[in-house]
Amino acid sequence: MTLRTIESLGSLAGKRVIVRCDLNVPLKDGVITDDGRIRASLPTINELIHAGARVVVVSHLGRPDGAPDAKYTLAAVAQRLCELLGKPVTFAQDTVGTGAHEAVDALQDGDVALLENLRFNAGETSKKDEEREAFAKRLAVFGDAFISDGFGVVHRKQASVYELAKLLPSAAGLLIATELDVLDRLTEKPAKPYAVVLGGSKVSDKLGVIAHLLPRVDSLLIGGGMMFTFLAALGHQVGSSLLEKDQIDTVRGYLDEARARGVEIVLPTDVVVASKFGADAEHQVRPVDSIESSPWGSSGLGLDIGPDTAARFAEVIRASETVFWNGPMGVFELAPFAAGTRTVAEALTAVNGLSVVGGGDSAAAVRTLGFHDEQFGHISTGGGASLEFLEGKRLPGLEVLGWQ
Ligand code: 3PG
Repeated sequence: MTLRTIESLGSLAGKRVIVRCDLNVPLKDGVITDDGRIRASLPTINELIHAGARVVVVSHLGRPDGAPDAKYTLAAVAQRLCELLGKPVTFAQDTVGTGAHEAVDALQDGDVALLENLRFNAGETSKKDEEREAFAKRLAVFGDAFISDGFGVVHRKQASVYELAKLLPSAAGLLIATELDVLDRLTEKPAKPYAVVLGGSKVSDKLGVIAHLLPRVDSLLIGGGMMFTFLAALGHQVGSSLLEKDQIDTVRGYLDEARARGVEIVLPTDVVVASKFGADAEHQVRPVDSIESSPWGSSGLGLDIGPDTAARFAEVIRASETVFWNGPMGVFELAPFAAGTRTVAEALTAVNGLSVVGGGDSAAAVRTLGFHDEQFGHISTGGGASLEFLEGKRLPGLEVLGWQ
């Protein structure tokens, strides 16, 4: 069964439509540093405006503790949404209180309101079904229909993602449809050669995806903090670099499986080792078999893949017809350790086929490093959600919309 579409809801003119977006954008000192998720939400919101609906946008931001917390207000998001839509957006100071009721009641056809952070209410993320249901009922009074478009949150069984969809006529928005279309192409008959590039700090976050994709890919390239667990599995000393000792045996199992399947696992041959964690750290490139021979011995920290590794990764990526990349290659936020991530991003822009950047940190990385969305086939808005999709997991926020 496929997802219910917006068209299946019939005419939405004059109707109040709740749209669940994922506007969980990174903020620094209250300023949005990457508005990608807001921009990705525009097609559905604009379609509803043009249809003459009264649009009630809801979202979470960060992980507040089930109560209002000024640090996580959506106020800056409302402002940016208003700029990007080129029309006023009423911002309600609460989610289901008087402010929200007043904002929704005042909507005219084609107007947009954004309610305050859903997670300021404990019922949104409660582990208890009845608490989530009760909160969803308080949200449902704002809508005649519900559109789920927060792809980044479809892996969460939360009130506004799951229970709300059961209370109102509901459908998937355009962003979810686009995301699934692309991610499906990564699991169902991907064009070959197919390379998957994984980075980020923890190998334990990526085990499911490695297990599910190993039978489908031609090459698996490993960088980022997680590379050190692979290097340790090969018997290398990794100094004080990130290491998940309890995963070394699992990683050895994957290396064996890859060999048996004829999948090439491309591991770093050199890394950038630093004296400490900081932009002003002293650093040098070391081959992976002599990380602890740097001047900092066993306290040296590997913070990026080295130039030989980056060049090899770029070669494999450019020669592939399908590439999925999730997780930075190093600490790209610190200029001396951004080169590996930059080289991989550049190589993705040169892929003659489908290149997909899997959300979260990798999306932030490419934008921080000055790349444009149009240079890639697709930048997913889902971090955990896209990984869980690629693990083949059942996602509650999709199942409730008819996806099987
Ligand atoms: C994300 O950033 O991956 C989504 O917005 C989901 O956020 P969460 O991990 O706090 O549920």
